Amino acid sequence: MRKSFLSTIAMAGATALALAACSGSTEPGTTNDPGTGGNGDELITVGFAQTGSESGWRAANTQSMQTAFSEDNGFKLVFNAADNDPAAQIAAVRSFINQGVDAIVIAPIVSDGWDDVLQEAKDAGIPVILEDRTVSASDDLFATWVGLDFEREGVYAGEWAAEYFGDTPTRMVVLEGTTGSAPANDRAKGFNDAIAGSGIVTIDSQTGDFTRDGGKSVMEGYIAKYGIDGIDLLYAHNDDMGLGAIEAIEAAGGKPGEDIIIITIDAVRDGMQALVDGKINYIVECNPLLGELVAGIVKDVVAGNPVDKEYFVEDQKFTQDEAAAVIDSRLY
Ligand code: AHR
Repeated sequence: MRKSFLSTIAMAGATALALAACSGSTEPGTTNDPGTGGNGDELITVGFAQTGSESGWRAANTQSMQTAFSEDNGFKLVFNAADNDPAAQIAAVRSFINQGVDAIVIAPIVSDGWDDVLQEAKDAGIPVILEDRTVSASDDLFATWVGLDFEREGVYAGEWAAEYFGDTPTRMVVLEGTTGSAPANDRAKGFNDAIAGSGIVTIDSQTGDFTRDGGKSVMEGYIAKYGIDGIDLLYAHNDDMGLGAIEAIEAAGGKPGEDIIIITIDAVRDGMQALVDGKINYIVECNPLLGELVAGIVKDVVAGNPVDKEYFVEDQKFTQDEAAAVIDSRLY
């Protein structure tokens, strides 16, 4: 059940303030040095287990989190990026438990496999806050979740495709996100529900692991198998895979956005530019600027204040004309 729904505009404003007010960040895969807060208050030590650095979205999310969890804002951040390796991410969380941090924030790479380590955190009295992606574990093992409605994103993308193609027979290939991740599962479900009854048929669907290289190499395989003429529509679960696919289509002599209609999710700067340039046809946003909201919730959790079980942040969606109108004002 949805408990809270925040507007993108409010998030963008809060993050802009945070970006203006804070300085200093830690590179992925490293930790911050211990220190004291600029305001003299005791710092809240937070372990943040990030997925990795697979995409432009992830870079913006990491920046947002590191900015919000600054010493000026009352935090000592212990940062880990797991390079998309679920076992490494669980090991990082165990390390946070052993260090006795005050709270743990996790952006889970995959949904399954979290029960044991979340129970260990609970037994140690360390609250866990999920950020971005969800887990399949019992929700009494974490305090709250903050993120996006991935299924709704898939529905938005599918509704545009169904409207565009109607009942015209349409051969679609899909670039899936990381197998077993919440956004890959939910974006597939939302899209498939939305195109039911249309003329769109999935002729192939493989993971590109949310990376540009992955999207490019899977798309090269699709083109080798079906030819540019054998594909009408590409649905990529994120911008980076769509951008990699564009490289593959152009290298094969095709025109992305014309020979093959392309729909992606994220609305990061490079994706929006490709949309404005006519190489992508439609983008559904996935807002990565979650840091300020998560930091406020972590403070409440550590203080013992009541929090909702889930916080959804609102997404927008863009046609080519809509992207052209807003691209210069985007924060990421
Ligand atoms: O979990 C959010 C997804 O993860 C973004 O859509 C994708 O770009 C990122 O890697």
